[in-house]
Amino acid sequence: MNIFSLLYFGFILLAGVQAHGKEHFTWYKKSLAIYACNYEISYLKGISFCPAKGNKRERKKCRCANENWRASLAGCLAYKERNTTSTIEFYKSFCQNNYNVDLDKDWFDKSYTHFLNNAKNKYEIKPSREPVNFPVKFSPKEMDLYGKVAINFLGNYDDSIWYGISMFGFWFLVLTIGAISHWTKVLFPETTKKLVGSISNSYRKYISIPALYGKRRAQEIRCWKVFDSLIPTRFESIVIGLFYLFTVIIHAVNLKAVENDPIFDTKYMAEIRYVADRTGIVGTAMTPLVFLFAGRNNFLQWITGINFSTFLCYHRHIARVMVMLVVIHSVNYTILLVYRETFPFKVKNPWLYWGILATVAGGLALFQSILYLRRSHYELFLFLHLALAVLFVAGTWIHIVDFGYCVLLYPCIAVWCFDRIIRLIRLFSFGFPQANVMLVGDETIKLEIPKPKYWKPVPGGHVFVHFLKPSYFWQSHPFTFVKSSEKEGIIVIYLKLKGGITQNLYKLLKKSPGKMATMRVGIEGPYGESTPAKYSDKAVFIAGGNGIPGIYSEVVDISLRSPSERKSQLKLIWVIRDYNSIIWFYDELLWLKNTDIKTTLFVTRPNNRVTNFGSFNKSESSQEGSIKSGYNEINPQPYKGQNYIEEFKAELSHINFEERRPNFEQLIHDEIEESPGSVAFVACGHPAMVDEVRYQSCRNIDNPYNKRVDFYEQLQVWA
Ligand SMILES: Cc1cc2nc3c(=O)[nH]c(=O)nc-3n(C[C@H](O)[C@H](O)[C@H](O)COP(=O)(O)OP(=O)(O)OC[C@H]3O[C@@H](n4cnc5c(N)ncnc54)[C@H](O)[C@@H]3O)c2cc1C
Ligand SMILES: NC(=O)c1ccc[n+]([C@@H]2O[C@H](COP(=O)([O-])OP(=O)(O)OC[C@H]3O[C@@H](n4cnc5c(N)ncnc54)[C@H](OP(=O)(O)O)[C@@H]3O)[C@@H](O)[C@H]2O)c1
Ligand SMILES: *[C@@H]1O[C@H](CO)[C@@H](O)[C@H](O)[C@H]1NC(C)=O
Ligand SMILES: *[C@@H]1O[C@H](CO)[C@@H](O)[C@H](O)[C@H]1NC(C)=O
Repeated sequence: MNIFSLLYFGFILLAGVQAHGKEHFTWYKKSLAIYACNYEISYLKGISFCPAKGNKRERKKCRCANENWRASLAGCLAYKERNTTSTIEFYKSFCQNNYNVDLDKDWFDKSYTHFLNNAKNKYEIKPSREPVNFPVKFSPKEMDLYGKVAINFLGNYDDSIWYGISMFGFWFLVLTIGAISHWTKVLFPETTKKLVGSISNSYRKYISIPALYGKRRAQEIRCWKVFDSLIPTRFESIVIGLFYLFTVIIHAVNLKAVENDPIFDTKYMAEIRYVADRTGIVGTAMTPLVFLFAGRNNFLQWITGINFSTFLCYHRHIARVMVMLVVIHSVNYTILLVYRETFPFKVKNPWLYWGILATVAGGLALFQSILYLRRSHYELFLFLHLALAVLFVAGTWIHIVDFGYCVLLYPCIAVWCFDRIIRLIRLFSFGFPQANVMLVGDETIKLEIPKPKYWKPVPGGHVFVHFLKPSYFWQSHPFTFVKSSEKEGIIVIYLKLKGGITQNLYKLLKKSPGKMATMRVGIEGPYGESTPAKYSDKAVFIAGGNGIPGIYSEVVDISLRSPSERKSQLKLIWVIRDYNSIIWFYDELLWLKNTDIKTTLFVTRPNNRVTNFGSFNKSESSQEGSIKSGYNEINPQPYKGQNYIEEFKAELSHINFEERRPNFEQLIHDEIEESPGSVAFVACGHPAMVDEVRYQSCRNIDNPYNKRVDFYEQLQVWA
């Protein structure tokens, strides 16, 4: 599909090969006593067991090869009976794997006997440069201290994994709440309708439905362009707020060091290290969440009924937290390295510079994804974002592979691959059909795509479209589709003219004869699902401008269900700027005649010049019994304006026309008043309009008629 798929699979292959023979993940707590005692022996001042020569590894080998070291260790382990069988076995394999020293099976018993017979108390030994030839015995107080230090330091590694996992717990809880509120509507529609008590109403009025503050949700908050941003709903904001709080808490507890920490010199330095480890591990452990929530094929969307744009909103915040943790991790390690004066040398190690690279990639990904850049250069944003994400994962991988922490990355890579593979399957299973592309208005392009038989359209769903032209085949854009009202097996997409790929298509069509062309397209989908509005006694579908396709297909889908299946009265409201819009959607509007959907069209600027009608060959269409949308450039007719409008209105007598902007405050109030029971409002269109409908629906949740009011947003905004 694109170079990224190749990159992923290349990377996975690499990772798979690398994973072989590398250190396996182990829990420190299983053999904490070994570490505690070995630290204690290593930090003896003026007492050593082996000559200080050779490289670091050679010197470290002493802890396995030297019998006095082993005996000191055995004596230390015997304190409080920490010499469990697994500990003893662990040390045997530890010596084998790290220093190639083959210990006897009964190394402990032998060493312990040696210890009992020959050990000297630490305080009786004179400091010397020469190695001693007897084991050393420690006081219980010191052994307790080192036990504690090991728990603080190494226990933190193990705990951090659990704190990382607790992040999943947090999101599990949040998504469960979302899933419950979605599924109760679907599974128990009758019960849900009766839920108009003060608790349920207050919850929906103050928490689940409103924008965070005022009306803005689909509409961005403006702030000097670069700080433009989308504000989550109130429920989402609460979730995100709690998430930040939760993150702070799990990085604040269980991180105390002892005074004068023997490993890190000071309590401060020790705590710097603990925080560095905690943030590093939690940050890595949460990567699957970041990648899962950003994927189109996120199975949680199917389970919870929460839409992609909400998941993307969570994705952004989780990613911010993750990168912040990674930055803290890096800063703290820098402090530690500088403190130990090894900084300039260690940077040469791959694990270190890949770690630095990953941190930088993560930071850049945050900055390049601001709304302003997503809006102005979406394709560039996406390309850089994916490239940085690959760099982040690859860098992290190399950074942690030698520490045995790669298991933390497996789920992240797994969800990413899963998404990519499903995307490829969806794309290829649709086949790459030839689609008819035509200009059907000043600002609208119509796409007719033949679909495979088994491919089931989802009412209100969308697909991602690739236009297979050399200069932009790699782009995929989301568009809502409708089933063609005239032809079987065709889905139709209406594209509104914007500045990028749609502009390219427009230029291409302008040059083509008849303002139409055929083109191979790749279709990935269907994604999304219809809202639970169909379970209400009355469903009011409100569309603005080019937001109509999804709204239309959902309302028509409900109207076509058998009477036993559907209970709602249906209403469709379409707000358009001028009569031009009718032309490209004429067939669908005409088709509504066959249904009992009450339709109202609001034309907000009725006096706008109607530019399409002049070239509209009405006689041709009339022969087929319906007016067909499409240009006829060869025989342009003179502009007749009002006449045409009247003719159209006559043919669309089942539709009620209003020449003004709707007053949603009044409209929503009236719809609730007239409804036989519960009411659901579904909106898609101009963000300001959708926000207005949300606001007014929310205000009316407490209504004098005690009818349940719901609001569903079909508009998804992520750029
Ligand atoms: C779920 C969904 C359904 C949609 N359905 C329709 C529809 O039925 N008809 C319709 O006309 N439009 C629809 N849109 C909007 C449509 O995706 C964009 O208008 C289109 O991608 C713009 O392409 P462009 O390159 O011409 O735009 P540009 O001028 O490059 O960008 C215009 C705007 O579109 C956003 N955009 C561009 N590319 C993407 C992308 N790949 N994904 C998301 N946003 C993008 C940009 O950030 C910018 O805000 C839908 C969007 C979503 C999210
Ligand atoms: N699922 C999705 O996410 C999805 C699906 C399809 C389309 N879309 C997107 O939806 C957008 C809508 O299309 P568009 O650009 O064609 O719309 P538009 O032209 O901007 O607006 C359409 C109509 O809505 C009216 N309107 C705007 N704000 C209003 C308000 N607050 N109250 C009442 N009426 C209001 C306008 O009236 P005035 O003339 O008085 O301004 C106009 O008549 C497009 O950007 C499209 O890409 C998204
Ligand atoms: C641990 O050491 C004690 C001696 O202090 C010994 O009796 C015991 O059997 C040892 N336990 C194991 C599992 O080796
Ligand atoms: C309309 O189309 C019909 C059938 O294709 C054609 O015969 C007729 O000349 C066209 N009329 C105009 C005005 O373009």
